[in-house]
Amino acid sequence: MKKLIAGNWKMNGSLEVNAALVQALLADTSAWTCDVAVCVPPVYLAQVQALVQGSRLDLGAQDVSAHQEGAFTGEVSASMLKDFGVRYCIVGHSERRQYHQESDATVALKAQRALAAGITPIVCVGETLAQRDAGLTEEVVKRQLAAMVHTNGHCISEIVLAYEPVWAIGTGKTASPQQAQQVHHVLRRQLQAASQHADRVRILYGGSMNASNAGALLAQPDIDGGLIGGAALKALDFLSIVATAR
Ligand code: 13P
Repeated sequence: MKKLIAGNWKMNGSLEVNAALVQALLADTSAWTCDVAVCVPPVYLAQVQALVQGSRLDLGAQDVSAHQEGAFTGEVSASMLKDFGVRYCIVGHSERRQYHQESDATVALKAQRALAAGITPIVCVGETLAQRDAGLTEEVVKRQLAAMVHTNGHCISEIVLAYEPVWAIGTGKTASPQQAQQVHHVLRRQLQAASQHADRVRILYGGSMNASNAGALLAQPDIDGGLIGGAALKALDFLSIVATAR
């Protein structure tokens, strides 16, 4: 399966910084063997769309409204994202679940909106440190994925899944390749129970992935790519992760 390396810029960047970063990423794409995307803040979609036009770098968003259209001040709909050439959209990132109280059901609806607009949702699941310490990791990620399966039915094979342990995000603490593989395997089995096409779902790992730990993580049988935060803001770091993903 072709791997996917997606950068999540989070709330970082400026017109100037974005232009320099994308230019550096596109300097030489000839050796890329995986799919590569950057998920940018919504106000920069038009800028980055123009910068990546005709290149091998795909455009992604970081969130989408659960509603189709109408009186939802500040929200951005899936069809608006589609207008700007968005191919992927992160949904249910732990920062949205935590700071914006997004429930499993809301996240599942967001994925449904994205799919209906022809955008691939990158669905994030993951446990907190307290949940891991209490032995609840599998229960938590299974519950998060179950909501997705319940709402999206057989379309579940069209998503990208991302396992992002909350305790590993932005902390410099990465799940070991074995820890990550164990959870990815659980998620794979759950997908297989829901769809006969489950084996084409890419399951990304996210959480302090960087140039030095990416190789061992990406070598695991059920790790099909990465969702990269901090290291996606530095062209050299991001490119060396891309080079590792074969
Ligand atoms: P870091 O790579 O900065 O830990 O962030 C991971 C993440 O949240 C990607 O969505």
